[in-house]
Amino acid sequence: MELNKYRHVVVLTGAGISAESGIKTFRDQDGLWENHKIEDVATPQGFLRNKTLVNQFYDQRRRQLLSPEVKPNLAHVALAEFEANFKGKFTLITQNVDNLHQRAGSKNIIPMHGELLKVRCLRTDKIFEWHGDVTSSTPCPCCQKAGGLRPHIVWFGEMPLFMDEIEESLRDCDLFLAIGTSGQVYPAAMFVQTARHQAQAHTIEFNLEKSANHSDFHQQIFGPAATTVPLFFTRT
Ligand code: APR
Repeated sequence: MELNKYRHVVVLTGAGISAESGIKTFRDQDGLWENHKIEDVATPQGFLRNKTLVNQFYDQRRRQLLSPEVKPNLAHVALAEFEANFKGKFTLITQNVDNLHQRAGSKNIIPMHGELLKVRCLRTDKIFEWHGDVTSSTPCPCCQKAGGLRPHIVWFGEMPLFMDEIEESLRDCDLFLAIGTSGQVYPAAMFVQTARHQAQAHTIEFNLEKSANHSDFHQQIFGPAATTVPLFFTRT
């Protein structure tokens, strides 16, 4: 496929693109949601019930992300290299809260489900870079209130971030790629339909297997993302 014929390439990534970097996906075997109840650690109600448990869950994931073993893989790098050389517009929408796209060098990233290395003040909604743990005695940098911070993560029942920008990109794109996402979580699972039907974009899914919304795509490329994604961008 000749990629230079496209004007605006939009890529949606999910947990599968970071699997080969050592970060667990959510719904695969041994995924995060097999060991934890979603309603306990990924809902506003769960946070209100037990802030310590929720903070510890994200502390653990933050520490893992910052450990030397976790680094961008060849799929992250291929996307960043493509963006750097592409003449048209490139938009990377990610559901991932890790910073592996940023570390690989991607620039136009929309982190729709928040960022693990950020926290937010519960009173003012101010956002802070955060690399350490959060406990009930951690003072908030803006209001100084102990326990006044929450992870900057979009939980179930909350509205994803940057929806206006996302909608605008989807309606404008002519190539839409979804990489390593199960197509089970909305609104992200609907993006392919907007790109395909509103923008008449060509749509391709990269996954190990058929996703829940696989029939919405024109084309599927099966295999581990760190192999298929670089191949796609070098061969095309
Ligand atoms: N290469 C390509 N795809 C892979 C790989 C890999 N190496 N490993 C796993 N996958 C695929 C799986 O087959 C699965 O379809 O990645 C997908 C991961 O799906 P999920 O675990 O459901 O992750 P995701 O789609 O990102 O979840 C969406 O749900 O839990 C919430 O907010 C959380 O952002 C997350 C959202």
